[in-house]
Amino acid sequence: MILVTGGAGYIGSHAVYELLQAGHQVLVLDNLCNSSRQSLARIEQLVGRRVEFVRADVRNRAMLSSLFASFPVTAVLHFAGLKAVGESVAEPLRYYETNVSGSIALCQAMAEAGIFRLVFSSSATVYGEASQMPISEDCPTGQPTNPYGQSKLMIENVLRGLAASDPRWSIGLLRYFNPIGAHESGLIGEDPTGVPNNLVPYMLQVAVGRRAALNIYGDDYPTPDGTGVRDYIHVVDLARGHLKALERLEQQRGVAVWNLGTGRGYSVLEMVRTFEAVIGRPLPHVICPRRPGDIAQCWSDPGKAWRELDWRAERDLTAMLADAWRWQSRNPHGYAQPAKTLAATG
Ligand code: NAD
Ligand code: UD1
Repeated sequence: MILVTGGAGYIGSHAVYELLQAGHQVLVLDNLCNSSRQSLARIEQLVGRRVEFVRADVRNRAMLSSLFASFPVTAVLHFAGLKAVGESVAEPLRYYETNVSGSIALCQAMAEAGIFRLVFSSSATVYGEASQMPISEDCPTGQPTNPYGQSKLMIENVLRGLAASDPRWSIGLLRYFNPIGAHESGLIGEDPTGVPNNLVPYMLQVAVGRRAALNIYGDDYPTPDGTGVRDYIHVVDLARGHLKALERLEQQRGVAVWNLGTGRGYSVLEMVRTFEAVIGRPLPHVICPRRPGDIAQCWSDPGKAWRELDWRAERDLTAMLADAWRWQSRNPHGYAQPAKTLAATG
């Protein structure tokens, strides 16, 4: 059985779906601070199987120990954490406590229970402002400029130290580039609380009429059209990367780092144009000043994951945005209301 912390959230829910489809037994632990029980109900609807769910906090070590005593867990996918960059600047201690202390409590309980296989959700943010593109795993990590990014780098270092101290550990650090999109059913997807921080959720809310116009943060970057360039990856491809990492970790010990990206960067304006083609109408947008803390460009060298995990991203940008749009247009208010029927939205 695989424990998925944060399994009700955006990426975790897609990983839960893929695990179930691959025949794994899954136990989800989530305190639902940034997600809805609905995501798991939708997965159950899609796969026709029940998902074991425990509503609890990953920082609660005693609870984790009793969970490991009750369920035959053999490995953990650890998604649970807080991820809003701006909020992390305002509330650093909450971020360090949830992300770093939560990971430590999880590892303590795992070791006590004799479970040593862990896949951790890291981020390309640990590279900071890399001097050359594409970014491979041997590029030095930089100085993340906010507590969220720092917490990811701190956890990576905690996990490295842990694996160095005890050869039984098999740990995968997955550095995600920019996850977007949704499961092709349109039943599960990203459902941000409040004003979206990230580009695609914001574009989607403009398209469904919840926001007036997209703010494009800067058109004076040293990139081909002046807007920021990122490596967007379909969340289903990303989720499948986790299954490949789990398999690989069965055969190796220590810590391994894998970038999960497509190897291709797109600018904000290219994103807007592709999205406009998907929805068949213009997307209102305005050029604004740069967003503090943003980097000009960032894309991956995903070759290591291809060589070692036999994994590569398969879905192109149009598929990513079409799937994101299917989710948003059928669920304009996310999980807050039932999905419209497929027939109703065409
Ligand atoms: P999300 O907020 O949708 O999912 C995180 C889940 O963790 C939520 O369901 C939340 O309720 C749960 N959670 C938070 N604190 C918890 C706690 N103390 N105890 C138990 N559950 C808790 O975010 P996501 O986009 O699915 O991200 C998943 C992971 O991937 C996070 O660790 C995030 O930092 C990392 N990541 C995300 C991105 C991205 O762009 N989405 C990029 C890089 C890395
Ligand atoms: C952001 C976080 C990063 C985190 C990642 C998760 C910041 C500074 N960085 O990365 O730490 O790991 O999300 O996916 O918040 N953009 C707009 N208008 C918007 C939103 C974004 O023009 O309303 C632009 C940005 O300037 C950037 C691109 O779109 O060029 C992508 O932005 P976003 O989706 O927020 O991701 P990142 O900045 O890469």
